[in-house]
Amino acid sequence: MTLHLKKAELHCHIEGATPPELALRQARKYGVDTSAIIRDKAYVWDDFTSFLKCYDSVASLFRTEGDYALLAEAYLSELAEAGTIYSEIIVSPDHGNTVGLGADAYIEGLAAGMDAAKAKTGIESRMLITGIRHLGPEAVIRTAEYAARLRHPLVTGFNLAGEERMHSVAEFSRAFDIVRDADLGLTIHAGELSGAFSVRDALDHVRPTRISHGVRAIEDEDLVKRLADEGVVLEVCPGSNVSLQVFPDFASHPLKALYTAGVRVTLNSDDPPFFHTSLAQEYDIASTVMGFEDSEINGMTRTAIEAAFVDEATRQRLF
Ligand code: ADE
Ligand code: ZN
Repeated sequence: MTLHLKKAELHCHIEGATPPELALRQARKYGVDTSAIIRDKAYVWDDFTSFLKCYDSVASLFRTEGDYALLAEAYLSELAEAGTIYSEIIVSPDHGNTVGLGADAYIEGLAAGMDAAKAKTGIESRMLITGIRHLGPEAVIRTAEYAARLRHPLVTGFNLAGEERMHSVAEFSRAFDIVRDADLGLTIHAGELSGAFSVRDALDHVRPTRISHGVRAIEDEDLVKRLADEGVVLEVCPGSNVSLQVFPDFASHPLKALYTAGVRVTLNSDDPPFFHTSLAQEYDIASTVMGFEDSEINGMTRTAIEAAFVDEATRQRLF
C-alpha cells in the first residue's frame, strides 16, 4: 500500500472527477433524470464514444460558479487526504459555455474551490485549459485564444483532449502556437486511442514538454527511444487505459517497459470515478501489481513536480 507516499498528479479532467453521489445530488438540484448515465451509483458507458457522452451529461449538471467551486474543493480535499501535494486539473471552458455559465465564471468557480482546498489542506493545484478535439480546429483555436488572453495565475497550461481518432495533430498546430506564445505549458492527449504515429505527430507539430497518455508509443521502439532522449514526460493513467481497453489488463500495460527504457513517466487518474479508480489506487497498482519499489514511485512523483506547470519558487517548495 502507498498511503505513506507523497503523491502528485498532472492529469485529471475535473468533470471526470465527479463522484456519482455528487452527480446525483446535482441532478436532484436541477431536476434532471440520470437513469441513462448512472446505475447502481456507477456511471454507464461501454466504449470511448459513450464514455464521452456520459462525461458531457455529467458536466451539464454543473451550472453555477458555486457548483464548480464545490466540485474542485471536494476533489482536491480528497486527494490531499491521500497524501497528494500537487494536482493539475484539466478544465474545459467549452463545457462552461455549453451550460450558459460562461468561461470566466467557470474558471472563477474552479479557482474558488482550489483556493478553499489549499486553505483547508495545503494542497497546491493549477488548471490546464483544454481544447476539445472533436469540436474541430476552429473551436480549439477559439479556446486557445481565450486561454492566451486570460492570464489567470492558476491557469498555467493548455491541453487537447477528446476524440483522438478525429482530425490530424497538424490541424491544431495553430492553436498550440497561440498558447505557446502566451507562455502556457503544453501537453496533448496522444497515443491513447491512436497508435504511435499520433505521439510522433504530437512531438513534431506541437513540441510539448509532456504527453497525456503517450502509452501507445510502446508500439514503436524508435519512438520510445526518442521520448527518452528528449526527456518528454508521459502522464500515464493505467486504470483509465485498462478500463477503456487500450490494454486488456495491468499485466500487459507498458508503464514498466517505458520506465525501464528511460522514459520519464508519472502516475495519474484521468477521470477517476468513471474508471473505478483514484490517484491513490493508481499508486497502489504501481506498487502491488506492477512491482515498482517505493523509491521508484517517489521518483515518478518527483518527475511530476519537475514537469509541473508552476513557477520555480513553487516547484522548489513542492520538492
Ligand atoms: N476527456 C476526458 N477523458 C478523456 C480521455 N481519457 N481521453 C481523451 N479525452 C478525454
Ligand atoms: Zn485525459
